[in-house]
Amino acid sequence: MIKARVSAENPDANLGPYDQTRKGFSWAEEEKRYGIEHAARINIVTESVDRWAGESDARDRAALLFEQGGEVRTYSYRKLRQESCQWANLLHDYGLQPGERLFIFLPQCPETYLAMIGCARLGVIFCNLFSTSTYGEMEVRIRDARPAAILTHPDLAEQLPADAMESVRWVFLTRGPLPGALPNEVLVENRPGRMPPEFDNPLLPRRGPLYLNYTSGSTGTPKGIVHAHQDLLGMGATARYVLDLSPGTLLWTEADPAWVTGTVYGVFAPWLCGATLLVQGDPFSASNLYRTLEKHGVEVWYTTPTTIRHLVEEGEDLPGRYDFSRLRHVATVGEPLVPDLFYWGLRNLGHSLHDTWWMTETGVICLANYPSMDIKPGAMGKPVPGLEAAVLDEEGEPAPPMTMGELAIRLEWPGLMCALWGDEERYEQYFRVPGWFLTGDMVLRDDEGYYYHQGRTDDLIKVGGIKMIGPYEIEHVLYMHPAVAEAAVISKGGDPGSGKSSVKAFIVLNPSFSPSNRLSQEIRAFLRANLSREIAVRDISFIDQIPKTRSGKILRRVLRAKELGLPGGQPLNLQD
Ligand code: WTA
Repeated sequence: MIKARVSAENPDANLGPYDQTRKGFSWAEEEKRYGIEHAARINIVTESVDRWAGESDARDRAALLFEQGGEVRTYSYRKLRQESCQWANLLHDYGLQPGERLFIFLPQCPETYLAMIGCARLGVIFCNLFSTSTYGEMEVRIRDARPAAILTHPDLAEQLPADAMESVRWVFLTRGPLPGALPNEVLVENRPGRMPPEFDNPLLPRRGPLYLNYTSGSTGTPKGIVHAHQDLLGMGATARYVLDLSPGTLLWTEADPAWVTGTVYGVFAPWLCGATLLVQGDPFSASNLYRTLEKHGVEVWYTTPTTIRHLVEEGEDLPGRYDFSRLRHVATVGEPLVPDLFYWGLRNLGHSLHDTWWMTETGVICLANYPSMDIKPGAMGKPVPGLEAAVLDEEGEPAPPMTMGELAIRLEWPGLMCALWGDEERYEQYFRVPGWFLTGDMVLRDDEGYYYHQGRTDDLIKVGGIKMIGPYEIEHVLYMHPAVAEAAVISKGGDPGSGKSSVKAFIVLNPSFSPSNRLSQEIRAFLRANLSREIAVRDISFIDQIPKTRSGKILRRVLRAKELGLPGGQPLNLQD
């Protein structure tokens, strides 16, 4: 047990004594903070950016610091309001309507942020895509969400599938020259600056959609998770209690806005708190990371175990050369924060790393270690105030302490997704047990209420510690290879060195092909060419038959069990 950073009795402790805070917490009180009690219509931008931009002592405070190549661009709350209003006016002039989708397909740059806020003002649903997304990934998502417009950069235009763009009325480009290959290209580089700096935000239904974020399931196509304006309540509360944000706090969330962590804690949550958000647009290096923490005097840093693992690889000499005296709180998300990484942080950064758990579907942090709570290294902490969690057994009944079961969160809370884009049936699957949201994560809880992560109930593969992909996305590419008759892909678990899941593909060949080392190499090269860079399939095995259920679902867990020598690797009885 590691002692809490701030004593729970200290009046400055952001959570105070855990049980007491939980008891005293109510969502109604949260609504009062924003003056939106019982409001049927709200707008997240009014409660975040505009609220501070309208206060004389806050409007000149930095809302966003964007650093790239050593240059820092500063946006005060006032400037952020003005420029995002100009974006809203621009999108409005191009006829974008509430409920329509704008795809934002850009590397991290200020335009990403301005366009997101601009959309939120209008009620246009924004959807951020990783700039590393491939042609195939873009195609699936464009066909599914049917965006009215896409905002991108000419360098990425090649990844846009010309054949799947029927819904797209405009392709906005942040820079020239225009590629000349896409429908209705519009150069927007200097356009927002010429638009009116005011925009009257419409109030939108509280459950009205704010953003769409694609995440993958183990079967089927990626899921488009839809989040609403009312998420602001959960975002604000968790940002205060878990990330310890107050007006003026300097927060660095590394995540790209195409990952939900970036959309929530790297955009709206800090602005709901009046904090200052730092965005670093340079590629990762350990020295640049330490320099960033020092140079900007970062106070709160929201990072990932993958980043910490990269720092570990660069050795223990480096951190000692930098001054982290302004840093007061570090939290991580996305994958297990194993005790080794925790202790490394304690030794080299002088801080306890505070693990947090949530998922795209939950919209906000659900379990966390708080600054005012003692930490058990390896544990994900306890539920945030306002949320009730449980470990459910296979019958959907609460399991006793120290028993593995599925993590479930009691319905419902402001933050929970409001829909799966165009897939009601799959959406309902999350609510199979009445009264609960089922997470698909296996956990156990000790008798003091701390939760421990045990893995996924399905077969998702985590790449680069950030992006979650389903085996389906890799199998889909494999099926395009002429030699492949059938394919199944599994994760063999995280590689402790790189943090990436090690991925293995099982392949049944078409009759005219026979297994060979050369064919294996050729298929791997084919995968490299057709998948995004983070995904590495290291291992290929040619087999005669893929184990499946009667209804034809691939039994990936059987393959995995066999591969890892675990019980459950005998498919025969399952097939019957
Ligand atoms: C996993 C991330 C272990 C989990 C915000 C979850 C974690 C999935 C942790 C969601 C953690 C997230 N320890 N595993 N602290 N946090 N996960 O949708 O399996 O990208 O279901 O959202 O990441 O990933 P997603």
